[in-house]
Amino acid sequence: MKYKLPYCLIIAPLALSLSCGGVKQTPAAPVAASVNKQLPIDRKVDSLLALMTLEEKIGQMNQYNGFWEVTGPVPAEGAAAQKYEHLKKGWVGSMLNVKGVKDVKALQKIAVEETRLHIPLIFGYDVIHGYKTISPIPLAEAASWDLAAIQRSAEIAAAEAAASGLNWTFAPMVDVSRDARWGRVMEGAGEDPYLNSRIAESRVKGFQGNLGEFNVAACVKHFAGYSFAEAGRDYNTVDVSNNTLHNIILPPFKAASDAGALTFMNSFNELEGIPATGNAHLQRDILKGDWGFKGFVVSDWGSMGEMVAHGYSKDLKAAAMSAANAGSDMDMESHGYVEHLAELVREGKVSEAVVTEAAGRVLRVKFLLGLFDDPYKYCNEAREKATVGKKEFHDGVLDVAKKSVVLLKNEKNILPLKKQGQKIAVIGALANDKTSPLGSWRIGADDESAISVLEGLKQYTGNSITYAKGADVAVGPVLFGNETRINMNDKSGFAEAVKAAKAADVVIMVLGEHGLQTGEGRSRAELGLPGVQQELLETVYKANPNIVLVLNNGRPLTIPWAADNVPAIVEAWHLGTQAGNAIAQILYGDYNPSGKLPMSFPRSIGQVPLYYNHKSTGRPGNGQPTESVFWSHYIDAPNTPQYPFGYGLSYTTFEYSNLKLDKSSFVKGGKITVTVDVKNTGKTDGKEVVQLYLQDLFASVTRPVRELKGFELIALKAGQVKTVTFTIDEKLIEFYTANKKFEAEPGDFNLYIGGSSDAVLHAPFTYN
Ligand code: BGC
Repeated sequence: MKYKLPYCLIIAPLALSLSCGGVKQTPAAPVAASVNKQLPIDRKVDSLLALMTLEEKIGQMNQYNGFWEVTGPVPAEGAAAQKYEHLKKGWVGSMLNVKGVKDVKALQKIAVEETRLHIPLIFGYDVIHGYKTISPIPLAEAASWDLAAIQRSAEIAAAEAAASGLNWTFAPMVDVSRDARWGRVMEGAGEDPYLNSRIAESRVKGFQGNLGEFNVAACVKHFAGYSFAEAGRDYNTVDVSNNTLHNIILPPFKAASDAGALTFMNSFNELEGIPATGNAHLQRDILKGDWGFKGFVVSDWGSMGEMVAHGYSKDLKAAAMSAANAGSDMDMESHGYVEHLAELVREGKVSEAVVTEAAGRVLRVKFLLGLFDDPYKYCNEAREKATVGKKEFHDGVLDVAKKSVVLLKNEKNILPLKKQGQKIAVIGALANDKTSPLGSWRIGADDESAISVLEGLKQYTGNSITYAKGADVAVGPVLFGNETRINMNDKSGFAEAVKAAKAADVVIMVLGEHGLQTGEGRSRAELGLPGVQQELLETVYKANPNIVLVLNNGRPLTIPWAADNVPAIVEAWHLGTQAGNAIAQILYGDYNPSGKLPMSFPRSIGQVPLYYNHKSTGRPGNGQPTESVFWSHYIDAPNTPQYPFGYGLSYTTFEYSNLKLDKSSFVKGGKITVTVDVKNTGKTDGKEVVQLYLQDLFASVTRPVRELKGFELIALKAGQVKTVTFTIDEKLIEFYTANKKFEAEPGDFNLYIGGSSDAVLHAPFTYN
């Protein structure tokens, strides 16, 4: 049933008694002489704002978590009862963590039928990499470098979420992540600002589409600097330079804003000593000022209240004042606005204009989503049933899962596996796990709903399979409630694993992190295989070294022993609902891996944070072991990563040659065209991510040793050659200079092209 607008759009508040939507209104009621849907959105927003009391405007700035069983009796006492009262008064603008058409509809009904102004709620949820049908974790998807596949994955997530009553996802996370200890690296696109920016655009487009009934508003987070938590410990202090802020952290946010993202989320961390939620420079000057962002900013969960713990605000009221004045438009669960903002306005500590602006931003997004035309736009139970879990969505997440796998090592051509006559031992608890592949942040999905690796492999019936767990992954009770799965020393399963390995031609070991060992609050101080898995690997290796190590993880791991000894290593992350099928198809060669690492893999934890686009330093050294001691290095480890950013193998090989620049210098307004030939030199068809890096040799502020500035994913048949073209123009070499603005500075550059960030093919050029 199409919702009939219960009130008419307001052009100007009227003092007359009018009939609207068949309902007789009292003189005070917010009605207008006529609905004018043709008005520009900003005027509709202004008209509505003109009718709102201060408290109602503040209501739009207040977001509550789902607080009662919506289909049960209404809450009669305590905090829930108070929230319920607020809802009915129109003091709530948004809810989070309520999902499913039935529940969303019940709440929306209260907002649009019982409140004075009938303003619909906006419903937010962490649809990070899928709603029910789960895609690979975002870090894994980034490894695909396939923007179309990433956009499709976001479209699938949006379609299922929107069909389930939701209209707003708290994604994409675009925090550039350099520290593998930080648990949330799984949620972003890795260490590079350029790759993060392109992926941010794709995700925003995928989620928002044309804001139809299968789309949701995106929320770009966490603004800003959250991933730079010291020592990779979640929520820890952040202290970054202005240079890093503008050149590394902010570009993906800017790209997402330019792509039309409707909302932003601020972050838990401080920046220059000011918590992001109360940071006017970030939210007012940069985001809403310089970038012209017109949507609204929601706080992170409780981040307004946390300004007290930060030692920045004396109490919640002071925090609410700072947050409002700094441009944090909506309060997620601190209750600071609903409790204190009206008083702050009356005391003159926050001007009413600040409140009006924030409420207007929220209303604008609601108008754009079409919620005023139909507050039940997302509440169609038949559509929900027909949409969630559709076959084509499973096909879509399988497709992106295969594309996300990175082949790290493949010696002796152990991969792809032969399809007939092989005895295969599959070892590791994760091989037989149907929940872990869903990864962190998949709160809409059902436990046990993923295809396990074992299930995927069993579909290839030409080989015999023996499974042995070997050892559990070490997962603490914090992650599993009462279920304790800590295994720091239980090796009782080793003997069975050794027996299976001895009898096998090939051993597939699925080791790494459980899906819930990464994500928010899951920072790690060690990056090796948790628990006794490393020991299991070495023990099995002694019995049969013919091992394919399949890694399941949400962050770069340190695996130096495996890198030296195990013949094949497949980085399979947490690949989502179709994980087992994707992995099996890769291992059997039905899909030729093409993924490339979006984060450097360190050799040891002491190297972290480790990233390819580092600065040169005054003592870069020459990399020779005979060099004196006084250069920037470790005496007990190389500087280089185990596997660099951009790295990944294929079942075929590629050769780069014939690098050509049409000229060696260019001036303002000009450009250089670069071409390179890429040849598939193997016997298998394959795909390659051709990567362009630039190095700015000297500048008004020091520049990274190289920076990704372009890439193209190409498919090449065995023996085929393709010429790939890149264009270098002024825009591409711009950076945040000593003048505190983005500009291109004249100077000398090197460009590098290849299949990884350590590409060697290079050429110089000049910008005059
Ligand atoms: C996270 C956000 C998330 C929010 C709502 C917070 O703890 O930092 O990323 O969107 O919770 O669930």
